[in-house]
Formats: sequence, C-alpha cells, structure tokens
Amino acid sequence: MTTAEATEVRPVTLVTSDGERLEFGCAPGRSVLEAAAEAGAALPASCKQGTCGSCHASVAEGDYELGAHSPAALPPERRAAGEVLLCRTFPRGPLSVTLPYDGSRILRGGIPRRQAVIVALETVACETVRLELRAEPTEDGGTDCQFDPGQFVELQVPGHDAKRAYSLANTGNWEGRMEFYIRLRPGGLFSTYLRERARPGQTLTAFGPQGAFGLRETGLRPRWFVAGGTGLAPLLSMVRHMAEWQEPQPARLLLGVNTEEEVFGTAELDAVAAELPGFSHRVCVWRPGPSWRGPVGTPADLLAADLAEAPAAPDIYVCGPPPMVDAVVQVAARAGVPAEHVFYERFLPT
Ligand code: FES
Repeated sequence: MTTAEATEVRPVTLVTSDGERLEFGCAPGRSVLEAAAEAGAALPASCKQGTCGSCHASVAEGDYELGAHSPAALPPERRAAGEVLLCRTFPRGPLSVTLPYDGSRILRGGIPRRQAVIVALETVACETVRLELRAEPTEDGGTDCQFDPGQFVELQVPGHDAKRAYSLANTGNWEGRMEFYIRLRPGGLFSTYLRERARPGQTLTAFGPQGAFGLRETGLRPRWFVAGGTGLAPLLSMVRHMAEWQEPQPARLLLGVNTEEEVFGTAELDAVAAELPGFSHRVCVWRPGPSWRGPVGTPADLLAADLAEAPAAPDIYVCGPPPMVDAVVQVAARAGVPAEHVFYERFLPT
C-alpha cells in the first residue's frame, strides 16, 4: 500500500432494506460505524466492540478488514458469506454495504437524549427488578415516547460517564412511559445503583430509542418468541404491540429461567393472551425445586419439541444470554428453519 492509499478517505455506500442510500467517507483506522456517526447517522449498535452482533450487515462489494470480534456475534459461516459487524469493519477501498433494516432505524443528528424520572422500582423475581420511567417533556413540550417494539435505550449511570443498554418492555406511547426488566448483576455499575441508591423521583438520562431488533413483516407466518430471563423485555414489547394492533399471526412465547424464583412477567403475558387471539405462552425452569409443576429444561429444549410438531417453519424471535441464543439458533437450523426466519439479540452482562 502506498502512503497516499494509507491516508485516503474511502467512500462508503450503505443501502437500507427499503432502498435508502447513505454515502460518506471513512478515514483510515475508523470503522464504518464510527464514520457513519461522524457523518450524522447513528446506526443500530450496542457494544461497539464486536461482541453483541447488533451492528451486523452484509458487504455487497468492496474490500475491507474485519477487526477482532466474537465468533458468537458473527459465526465463521456468516462471515464467509459476506456478513460483517460494522463496528469492526475497516474499508480498504470503496465499500458498498446492505443493511438489514429500513431507514427509520437510523438516527440522523445523533442519538436522542431525554431526562426521565423514576416512577416505579420494584423487585419482581429473584435479582430481577421492574423499573418504570416517565420522560420529562422535550424542549418543544412533547411528552411522547415513540419507539418500535424490540428497541432499547441506554441509561446513564448516575455519577458516572458509563451507560448501560436496556430493552423497553412496554410499547410506544404519548405519556413518556418507559418500562424495563433488569437483572441485577453482582458488582454491576447500574445494578449497584439500583440496589443501593435508586429511588422514585430521581432523574436519569436516557439515550434512545436505538437498535434494529424488531418485528418483521413476513405476512401471516406464525411468530414464535423465545426468551431467556430478562431477554423477555423486548419480546414482551413485541407481543404487547401485536395485541394493541390485533395482528393476526398465530404467536407463542417460550420463557426460560434457571430456577422458579426467577420467574416473572406471567401476569403481563396473561394480559396479552387475554387480548390477543392465537397467543400462548409457557415458562420452563432449568433447575427446578420439588414444587415446580411446569416444563423442565431450557427454552431451546421447548422450542425443539414444538418445532418437531410444527406444520411449517415460523419466524423465530430470540433474546437472552449469548449461550441461550446460540442454542436456539442451532435448534432452529437443525429443524430446517431458514436462517432468514430467525431474528435475535444477545443480552450481554454489564
Ligand atoms: Fe458491533 Fe456490538 S455493536 S458487535
């Protein structure tokens, strides 16, 4: 490579699933994700370090270097097929990329920032809390909080620069309501704040909504949702959205937890089932006590059994810890579900 080539800005073209084109330059050493942000377009992303997979896309044309990343975020076979993680993609020349989401998921002018007051904080299961915020009015007086089911916001840890991403469990609304289910991690920065200092009335800074995970329009194909622990949150948002809009696809949700003390969300799922014809849900416990009467095992086990009896491949939406998501993706592949029917988001412990 010549010195001129080494310093040259590389032209990047991104094309969204609805045909929108974004063109910008990417300086040497900058990832496509960083260059897009510098050009005023915040693309869906979360960890920004090659571990979550939320910035995945496909290269249509061009040469690039792919930096260090987790094989769980981008399995070798997908990498070989031209998929990339945009936070780890460094163009070597002109690059053309196809994005798996439409233009509405790209935030122009950066990620929105809102102040939001804690209105509820309650323990709903072992080491799991429900946090409800009410966004304060924007500068123009707006109180709405619109987002697509499946999206997340980042909450700034009070007293720190650090932010933590949490999926929204409710649906878009005009009152500024944001609801989260959060697993409390030992020593976690935001977990420690929630455990020790958080109180109703305190104000947090929220960045978002963000993210490309969400419902896809695929006609009347059944929608199956598979959640591990608090991975239920974005899937609860999706089925609540389906209930609000009375969407006609048959739907089922499988939730897996480690012990029965970790079960939560049952009343909320029952409420969806009461409103949404064709929706059902089940909870399985991996290591139950003697009093547990429900299914035993992982949600991947439940899914395998259900797929064996399914007349046709459904769409499958998955969210939870990486090993659980990977197990579900493998079960779906073994059952013959096409990879393009499977949509997932991994929850990373933070
Ligand atoms: Fe790129 Fe997480 S944002 S892998």
